[in-house]
Amino acid sequence: MADRVPRGPTGVPLFGSSLSFAADPLGFFERSAREYGDFVRVETLNGEIYLLTDPAEIERILTRNNANYRKPDLGGEGLDGLLGEGLLTSEGDRWLRQRKRIQPSFNRSMLDRYAETMVADARELAETWADGDRVEGDRAMSRLTLRIIVETVLGAELGGMEREIADALENVGQKFRSDDVRTLVPEEVPTPRNVKYRLGERRLRRIVRDIIRQHERGVAREDGNMLALLFAAREAGATDITDDQLRDEVLTMLLAGHDTTALTLTYSWYLLSEHPEVRREFQAELDSVLDGEDPTAADADALAYTERVVKEAIRLYPPVYVVYRQATGDDSVAGFRLPEGAIVAMPQWVVHRDPRWWDDPEEFRPERWAEETDRPDYAYYPFGGGPRRCIGEAFAMREAKLILATIGRRFELDYAGRDDPELIPMVTLHPEPPVEFEIRTR
Ligand code: HEM
Repeated sequence: MADRVPRGPTGVPLFGSSLSFAADPLGFFERSAREYGDFVRVETLNGEIYLLTDPAEIERILTRNNANYRKPDLGGEGLDGLLGEGLLTSEGDRWLRQRKRIQPSFNRSMLDRYAETMVADARELAETWADGDRVEGDRAMSRLTLRIIVETVLGAELGGMEREIADALENVGQKFRSDDVRTLVPEEVPTPRNVKYRLGERRLRRIVRDIIRQHERGVAREDGNMLALLFAAREAGATDITDDQLRDEVLTMLLAGHDTTALTLTYSWYLLSEHPEVRREFQAELDSVLDGEDPTAADADALAYTERVVKEAIRLYPPVYVVYRQATGDDSVAGFRLPEGAIVAMPQWVVHRDPRWWDDPEEFRPERWAEETDRPDYAYYPFGGGPRRCIGEAFAMREAKLILATIGRRFELDYAGRDDPELIPMVTLHPEPPVEFEIRTR
């Protein structure tokens, strides 16, 4: 076992590097990797964390050696406090049991069925737009993907809850902003932010109850969606699927299943608007594949250029910009010792823009995805990897392509802001201020 300790920034005494991390996590990741290399030890208020930006080692931790790691135990302070024992935050046997039960609701035939809803909902949104309208792209995409996740994987109807969910999510999201030191204030302190968070959380729980009730009352879809599968397993005797377990799974899908894809779409529209030559090629593909009709499930596979646009958008703006793991036993990483209990941060934000793996890393070039390359697999991991890889990857790629195609064959979205949007790393990477577009009929 290697016993060398990697170098790293020391920060101001007492606070370690917590302050500069909280002020600008993306910049902090970048500077640390640039100055100290692929494996960096960082002292923070709550102990040390290690930054890892070497694709081969990231792959090893997420895949071959994943048994030596868990998701960090943040004692209920992070997402785990909200999502409890749902698929994203649970561990061990409970996680594996649930992953196996839920997986079939993401198989190919289900994705084909969901495709119709994806297109219908996108069409309905497009029908509310007219030439010259101004829309807040991120809000519009977020409401659309929210509606889709409720109607597909959760098998329910959103009804009038759309607005309430959007408000609730905004309140909850604010707590996870890392750009100011107020995140260091404990949750019990009734700051305006903490009060808002509690309110948001209560609202969300009410919405989750409503979705579950639709299944209990028999008014939900019974087509093999996640909730239908879990209810069926419960009726067949699975006593571990308690009401709390159901609640955690629904809230997990509600959050994990819409915000990331909404961001993917927002960044895609923004980049298309800023790169007219790419947009022309995208439109040419829509015109030739769709032939004046809305897309079908089969069309999603044929939209090869659109897929490259999406892949390139989330290379540059990965909605999940860092993945964390905690070592459950000692490991050696890149020739250094990683002690049991240590937390490793593996930032896509840095690796996806590393000039060792990407030519002109800051450039938006969808065609790079058509080129032969010997770049390591984990130079790109927007969906994570190994057993905990995103269960919604195929769902998200298909949804993004179908929405881009359904809207993009009717309209162009021209970015209406003056400056590039700023990026705010919350749980996911959010643009600020809202990304406004002017709508142009094609
Ligand atoms: C572009 C869109 C998306 C991105 C970038 C994304 C990213 C990720 C990443 C990086 C992870 C792994 C986290 C880790 O290992 O710590 C993950 C896990 C997960 N994602 Fe996604 N995701 C997206 C869309 C979706 C969708 C559409 C759904 C649901 C329909 C979803 C549900 C989940 C769930 C439940 C997990 C936990 C899986 C497990 O641990 O078994 N995601 N996602």
